[in-house]
Amino acid sequence: GRSLVTLDDLSTGQIQELLDKAHYIDGHRGEVADSCKGRLLATLFYEPSTRTRLSFETAMLRLGGQVIGFAGAQQSSVSKGESISDTVKTVSNYADIIAIRHPKEGAALVASRAAGVPVINAGDGGHMHPTQTLADLATITSRFGRLTGLTVGLCGDLTFGRTVHSLIETLCRFGGVNFVLISPEELKTPQYVIDCIKESPSCSYTEVKDLTQVIGDLDVLYMTRVQKERFFNEDDYLRLRDSYILDAGKLALAKRTMAVLHPLPRVNEIAVEVDADPRAAYFEQVRNGMLVRMALESSLLGVELPGYESVGAAGM
Ligand code: CP
Repeated sequence: GRSLVTLDDLSTGQIQELLDKAHYIDGHRGEVADSCKGRLLATLFYEPSTRTRLSFETAMLRLGGQVIGFAGAQQSSVSKGESISDTVKTVSNYADIIAIRHPKEGAALVASRAAGVPVINAGDGGHMHPTQTLADLATITSRFGRLTGLTVGLCGDLTFGRTVHSLIETLCRFGGVNFVLISPEELKTPQYVIDCIKESPSCSYTEVKDLTQVIGDLDVLYMTRVQKERFFNEDDYLRLRDSYILDAGKLALAKRTMAVLHPLPRVNEIAVEVDADPRAAYFEQVRNGMLVRMALESSLLGVELPGYESVGAAGM
């Protein structure tokens, strides 16, 4: 079956179609409630998760399907040294579709090659998190009605934040984005992601250290958590973790229409007082995450949603 390891596995038309389908599902929850009846999702989570695992599972259950899986490798035979390939070959006998999160970059690709059913990358190390990106794109689209012609600031841990890498690469494919990359020197955007912006003729970027100086220019501010689990050195983490804290004072300098996104979990990079501001879009993002996973799971399973008419010839 067809897998989703990175969003490069989909055309921009297919991405648009998933966003459109997620929007349709939101308005037709009753009609789609049995569309995946008899189908089984397996969630193989080798790394902690709240949103991603629960939203993949909720998505399948809300479509009438069922769910199996493990959260934490200690519970499974991974703890005895079983390889990813053997695990997914095994689970392919039980499930119709697999979502996998793993601390190693490339793990989802390995899994997709071994599996006999579609595999969805639910985050592989510091590399990619494509379904988070779909949630981000759905949120930007719902706030602005478009993905292009925006100034998008990304702030915090731009080195280890896989959601940042997925989002920039995907926005570059749609084009017309002015990126403002806000990070300490030690947590700058990797070169392969910068190259992606440079190769997109209609995108531009600047790299800065000070959020206050640029916040007034932004349409979207994508805040990130400093990724403690990817640091080699505790002292470096402690020194860098409070580099940026978005609070009501900083938000007062931003446009009234700016949208604040964060993949969550947050630690303290967004003050809780910001949650009540209409610009806070991060819990909308959570909801969109479930809707895009409903769209993706049904599409990869080849399930038609009752009443849904495709926007183009993109298909999946
Ligand atoms: N955004 C996200 O991936 O959250 P979890 O780590 O809780 O799944």
